This record gives sequence, structure tokens and C-alpha cells, in this order.
Amino acid sequence: MCGIVGYVGQREVVPLLMDGLRRMEYRGYDSAGVVAVQDGEFQTVKAEGKLDRLKEKLEKHPLTGHYGLGHTRWATHGAPSERNAHPVVDSRRRLALIHNGIIENFLPLKKRLIAEGWTFSSDTDTEVVANLVSSYLDGDLKAAVARAVAELEGMYAFAVVSTETDGQEIVAARQGPPLVIGLAQEEQFLASDPAALLAYTKDVIFLENGDIARLTPAGVEAWDRKGQRVERAVQHLNWDPIQAEKGGYKHFMLKEIHEQPQAVQDTFAGRVDFERAEILFDTVKVTKEELARVERLHLLACGTSWHSALVGKFLIEDIARVPVEVDYGSEYRYRDPIVSDRVLAVGISQSGETADTVSAMEAARERGARLFAVCNVLGSQATRISEGVIYTNAGPEIGVASTKAFTTQLVALYLLALYLRQVRQGHLERHYLDDLSRLPQAVDDVVRRQEQHMDELARRYHKSQNFLYLGRGINYPIALEGALKLKEISYIHAEGYPAGEMKHGPIALIDENLPVVAIATGDHVAEKVKGNMQEVKARDGVVIALTDHDPEELGGIADEVIEVPSLSPHLQPIVNVVPLQLLAYFIGVRRGADVDQPRNLAKSVTVE
Ligand code: AGP
Repeated sequence: MCGIVGYVGQREVVPLLMDGLRRMEYRGYDSAGVVAVQDGEFQTVKAEGKLDRLKEKLEKHPLTGHYGLGHTRWATHGAPSERNAHPVVDSRRRLALIHNGIIENFLPLKKRLIAEGWTFSSDTDTEVVANLVSSYLDGDLKAAVARAVAELEGMYAFAVVSTETDGQEIVAARQGPPLVIGLAQEEQFLASDPAALLAYTKDVIFLENGDIARLTPAGVEAWDRKGQRVERAVQHLNWDPIQAEKGGYKHFMLKEIHEQPQAVQDTFAGRVDFERAEILFDTVKVTKEELARVERLHLLACGTSWHSALVGKFLIEDIARVPVEVDYGSEYRYRDPIVSDRVLAVGISQSGETADTVSAMEAARERGARLFAVCNVLGSQATRISEGVIYTNAGPEIGVASTKAFTTQLVALYLLALYLRQVRQGHLERHYLDDLSRLPQAVDDVVRRQEQHMDELARRYHKSQNFLYLGRGINYPIALEGALKLKEISYIHAEGYPAGEMKHGPIALIDENLPVVAIATGDHVAEKVKGNMQEVKARDGVVIALTDHDPEELGGIADEVIEVPSLSPHLQPIVNVVPLQLLAYFIGVRRGADVDQPRNLAKSVTVE
């Protein structure tokens, strides 16, 4: 998954491109490059590695111009290198192109182009697109792009500038990965992510799959996959540019952990009538009668969002008494699932662009399922293909490790469970809402009380080579999430496990070098988890207990105790995960890891 940015207008283009790339660096950072067009000529500067390398090169080789393109890469075809960095220039040097996605039929196209005399200087599929567009270029860039995309198979969001157009012009095409256009007076912007545009405009257009767009200073024209002119709706983003900055925190991840009380509040605000004990879903186009007939839910997601789905299963089955299946997006789409119009499929995705999740959603819909999305990004692909969207209102999540997106997904799934109960039985018991109003304060309390304590635990345990996280019931997915946070941020091997399963294998790992985080909150399972803690202590393991009980009750079996406030069992996981996010963060910082941009990872995996 890469980051794309473009600009046409009166300002110097390179500073704008670099600013936009900086705000999207989390999308991929193997290499980066820019192209500026001046007096009918274009110049490109590219660099391997992070954006700072490109910045250093531009200081030595400054570019000028009033329109151009920028790109930050997460390698798919061709190793991370300057040679494979974008923008890519066609072999007749008539255009420069940047691309996010994978062209699945690039090899046969490359073979044909070579036979026609085109040459290649990189290993990328992108260079095939550049030469293909150039092979059709005859004064009309948009027409050349239209002819080229008719031959492409796969996923792409690309933009191109040419020296053969009259005046400033960017042409862009989208099939899969996102492309958003920012509109302003006498200048237009293009990016993969709205966060890159927020500082300049909040009025945006989200291109649809199959769209081609032409940007000039005067405005934007768009055509659909049939070549018909279309007017895509202009949306006004309510994100504040400052939100997309670090706001004084050392890392986006820490800022976003601290934003959780507000994000949780914003996710249920306006959707709960506390007076009448009613859930209000205004973005659901499926009628209540249709929802009442739903016999099963399929929750589809990847990574942290898959952990949300596992919690969602507990919530929906316990509250709405509807059976729920949970599946990885990458598994669901290839297992020929049993689906009917009595199945409600729900794709859970922060970005709304995760290829495995979106494809699984499409697989469910093709088989007759009704389709919802739980998503954080307005206008993203997952929201476009769904009949109902429950937006998590977490604001932009820049840190690669998902934190506020996860806790707000749990709130959204709680609301969905309540809504299904309400629709199916005609009313909702008030007690389900009592703890919801307390939730933001409870999350705020645990962030404030545990931040310093988690840094202290990080000081003691950051040199450990392995961690084990244990949880039962609705907290088993929290054990998985705590382990994922640690491994993706600090590169320590960590495993989440059902506490009751420890004796069936992982207990062999226990020794004095293995910290075991045990989640022992609530009542009927906490006693069982205490028993698991004793099994660990009996083998000299290190026990870090997370509990809402009086630490005295642990009877000294825990080496460390993380205290959290008590909420209803349904909402307790939202509070329980926060110290585990902080623990992962501080361990990562103490190990000198790049917390916001961990190695090999990208914020949204828009390729399979
Ligand atoms: C979580 O910390 C990871 N960044 C990753 O597992 C992520 O949750 C996964 O790629 C799914 O992304 P999505 O929520 O945008 O679909």
C-alpha cells in the first residue's frame, strides 16, 4: 500500500507534495519520489528509504513548478530501491506516473510492449502502466489513460502528468485503492488519504471504482467506467488538520491512545437515546423487518479488526441471541462460505480499504448476504459497497498500530448488538446503557492511572524475548490483541492464548524469563484465571495480572498487578485493552523501535 499525492495550481508544488507525503508516510516508507512540471518539462527526484532521504536529495537538487505528483512506496513488485521508486517515467519520456496497487496482468502487457519497442528500467508493474499510457498518448492524456485502463487487470490508483498537454493537467484513475480529490479556488489536490489534504481544503470528492478524473487549476472532471461524464458528490470533511498532527505527543500511537475517551464518546454520541433507552442508527438502509429476519451474522476482518470481530461475537450472541461466525477476510473469500439472504455480513475495518476484508465482503454479498460495514474512514471502499455503515468516529488514526480504532470498533459492535436486540424484541432494557455513559470516563481513568505504571513495567520487562498473554471468554480476544500490539511495535515474540488452554501446550514455555500477562476481570472466570496464574507461578513464571478485583484477593500470586475499573462484562474489554496498548508502546520505545512506522508493516494493506 503506497501514498499518492498531487497538486495543480499557483503555488510552488514541491513543498505541498512533501507535506502531503509526510502526512501519509505511515502508508508505506520503502522509498519516495516527486515530479514537478515547469515550462513543459518535468523533473523527478527519488530516494530509497524514508521521506527524510528524499528531503535531503531535494535540498541538493531543488525542483520548481506549479503542478506535479508525489509518492511514498510500500513495495509489492520490485525490491525497495531508488530504481523502483515512483514517479516512473515512460521510456520515451513523455509522462511521469505514480501508482498504488497491483497490476495482475503486467507480465503479458510488458511482453507486448517490449515487442513494440518499449524499454524498461525497473522491476515494477507500474512501469508497464507508464509505457502503456504513453503508447496511446496522442495529445489527449485522459483518452490515453482510458485506453490503457481498459487493458489493466488488478487493483490500481494512479495519477499521471505529461509534457504533451496544454497547460496544467493531472489525470488519475481508480480501481480498488482509494483516491480522494481536494477542491479549492484555482487549485486542486489529489491524495490516497484525506489526511494529506486537510491543511488545504476540507471539500473533497471520493473517486469511485472505474472512475477517471482530470484535474486542472480551474476544476475537476470525472468519467465513470463506461466513459460517461459523472458528477461525484462533494463531501465536507469534519476532520481538523490539527487532529492529523501529533498534538504534542512523542508518537501518533501515544496520542491516539490518549484520544480514546473522546473517540469512544464520539462513537456512541448521537446514536443512543438514553432517555428512551433506544439505539438510533441513521446510516442503515436495511429495514428493521429485514434485520429482524436475520438468522446469522458473518463478521469479516483482518488483524486487530479481527480481534474486534471476536469480541463482537460474544456481544451479539449474548445480547441479541443471534449466532455469529467470525472469519479472517483472507480465509472467508476462498472457503466458499454458506450464505443466504438471512445472513448479515459485517466487514470491520479501520481503513475500509483492506483488500482481504473488502473482497470477503463482496464474496458474502455475491452469495446473497445483506452487507454492513464498521469503518473509520468516510467514503472508503468498505462503506461504498455496504447497505449499512456504523462509522467509528475515532478521527484519523495515523499510527500503524491500531488503538483507538479498536476500542471504537468494540463500541460500534456493542451498539449493533443492542440494535439487533431492540429490533428483534421491540424494546431495549435500560441497564444495557447504564455503563455506556460511564465508559469514556473509565477509559480516561485507566489511561491516566496506568501510563506511568506501564512505562515502569516496560523498564523491567523490555528485554524479554517472549511474552504470553492469557484471557478467557470475552477477554480471550483482548489477550490476542495485547500480544499483537507488543509483537508489531517491539518485535518481541508474543502469543495470546485462551487461559484454559495453557495447560495443553504453552505451559511448557513457562520459566523465569517468560512474563505472562493474565487478564482476570469480572467474576465467574476471574477465579479460573487465578488458577492459571498459580500454574505459572509454580513453574517460576512471571505473572502480570490485569484485574478489577482488589489486588489483595490475588493472594500474592502476581508479580505485578495492573488495576482497571469495573464495568459490565460487555464493556470491560474496552477498558482492559488500554494498559496493554500502553505496555506495548513503552516497551517499543525502550527498545528503540520505530513505534509509529514499525518495520515491514503498513497502515492499510490494500493488496492481497
Ligand atoms: C493492527 O495494529 C494492524 N495495524 C493491522 O493488524 C490492522 O488491524 C489490519 O491490517 C486491518 O486493518 P483495517 O482495520 O484497516 O482493515
